[in-house]
Amino acid sequence: MTAQELYDKLKNIRVGGNVCQYSLKKCTELAPLVNEINRLKAERNAVVLAHSYVAPEIVYGVADFVGDSYKLSRDAINTDAQVIIFVAVRFMGETAKILNPAKIVIVPARDPGCTLADSITAADVRKLRTEYPDHAFVCYVNTSVEVKAECDVCVTSANVYEIVEKFPADKIYFLPDKFMGINLVNEMQRRKSPKQVRFWSGSCYVHEEYTAEQVFKIRTEYPDARIVSHPECNAQVVANSDFVGGTEQMLDYMRKSTARQFLMLTECGLSARLQSEFPDKDLVGSCTLCKYMKSNSLEDVLLALKSPTAGQIVTIAEPIRLKALKSLEAMFQYTQGVKSAPVKVSCE
Ligand code: 13P
Ligand code: SF4
Repeated sequence: MTAQELYDKLKNIRVGGNVCQYSLKKCTELAPLVNEINRLKAERNAVVLAHSYVAPEIVYGVADFVGDSYKLSRDAINTDAQVIIFVAVRFMGETAKILNPAKIVIVPARDPGCTLADSITAADVRKLRTEYPDHAFVCYVNTSVEVKAECDVCVTSANVYEIVEKFPADKIYFLPDKFMGINLVNEMQRRKSPKQVRFWSGSCYVHEEYTAEQVFKIRTEYPDARIVSHPECNAQVVANSDFVGGTEQMLDYMRKSTARQFLMLTECGLSARLQSEFPDKDLVGSCTLCKYMKSNSLEDVLLALKSPTAGQIVTIAEPIRLKALKSLEAMFQYTQGVKSAPVKVSCE
């Protein structure tokens, strides 16, 4: 890939300060790294899976698969490559390893945490199980493998409402996101579902920043803009959005919409994808960076391919993997036929 080709993909991106802004000079510095990574990928029979939140030079320079956590978990199953470089955070790499025990899975991030995944432990879930023995335990994919192993079914932002509605239990304990938990309660009421939902107290430090006041301000300044939010946002933000869904669904909504202006209430990576892939659409308002997702650099990806550190290689004890696999398999079972339905769509 030439510096000019890379620049053509990145030149419209104007979000996230210096983290996500590009000149031809910057692309000239990045291009040799991009080419070295792509050469090594072929040599090592490796693929790069990248979440939409990671740096745009990774998404557009070296990724073989890009998307949200649900799509990437499917991509991880379908690849023939022996090595999976999962450019995201630890829980996503763990999901790939649960599904591909014979493959080498590497997460290059220097800080692969997540405030949601780090908010609850397996011991917490075991304690909750004794407090609520008649509840089914539903975990968001943003959890550790040990937590997944204690739960009945895993969900992602793309399928949480459909799975909870279908799951054969009326008492649900959802973890770890309190905002998604409240949104789940509201959505079950809207659907007239009898589900009674309790939830844990975690939150995503990126999405909890967004407020209804911001939404009202944008509505006044840009009356034609569509407001698109992630279900990790609070209930007031969600109630005042035109569309709510996982990151891939947010992109899909924008792709199909005839509107021109959009406010994307999620990590800046999605706004960057909007600017790169939909140059005829305009982004309004601002976005927030996830320091964990952005702790992946091209240099880290190169190191992960050449000689990964022990901390970058995902390892899971087999008994835990097998238990966590059950909650992922239950998710795939309940999503068969679910077409990631939009939660709320405005009239256009
Ligand atoms: P998606 O499930 O939409 O990929 O989101 C993951 C995430 O970490 C959101 O903050
Ligand atoms: Fe976790 Fe929030 Fe970052 Fe997503 S954006 S990885 S939920 S901290």
